[in-house]
Amino acid sequence: ENAALLNAIIQNAIDGIITISDRGIIELINPSACKLFDYTPEEVIGKNISVLMPPPDRTNHDNYISRYQQTRVPHIIGIGREVTGLRKDGTKFPFRLGVSEVQYSGRKIFTGFIHDLSRQKEAEEQLKDYA
Ligand code: HEM
Repeated sequence: ENAALLNAIIQNAIDGIITISDRGIIELINPSACKLFDYTPEEVIGKNISVLMPPPDRTNHDNYISRYQQTRVPHIIGIGREVTGLRKDGTKFPFRLGVSEVQYSGRKIFTGFIHDLSRQKEAEEQLKDYA
């Protein structure tokens, strides 16, 4: 069945997947995203997505979402951006964020795709030493 297949794909995806409500509240987080941020689903479901980022984005993220809803001008949706995530232990890591807007059973949600860039960044830093 389709729903079961989709669930299997999400649960086993290599990249992190997080969905939020139109108010920025976390509704779903897959195992890859849990591992990257070092949280269990129970610890973050129902919390604002901003708990997973450092300031100044942490302070501004609600405004990013409401500004988008009012202006419909995207800064990440359909574009992507390299941003910084905040793990439970307070350490930070770089990742590529993709966001899409999804109409689901009569309401709007946002889906975030999280591609860890830690290793790539580390390799880049090491290469700089040779330059
Ligand atoms: C917008 C940062 C996670 C949904 C933004 C912007 C930044 C940002 C910098 C645009 C600011 C601007 O230039 O106006 C972050 C950081 C994250 C994160 C650091 C780390 C956890 C997420 C996730 C989702 C999400 C996981 C969705 C599940 C949105 C939406 C917008 C937005 C809907 C407004 C639309 C847009 O600007 O395209 N975020 N974000 N964010 N973000 Fe996030």
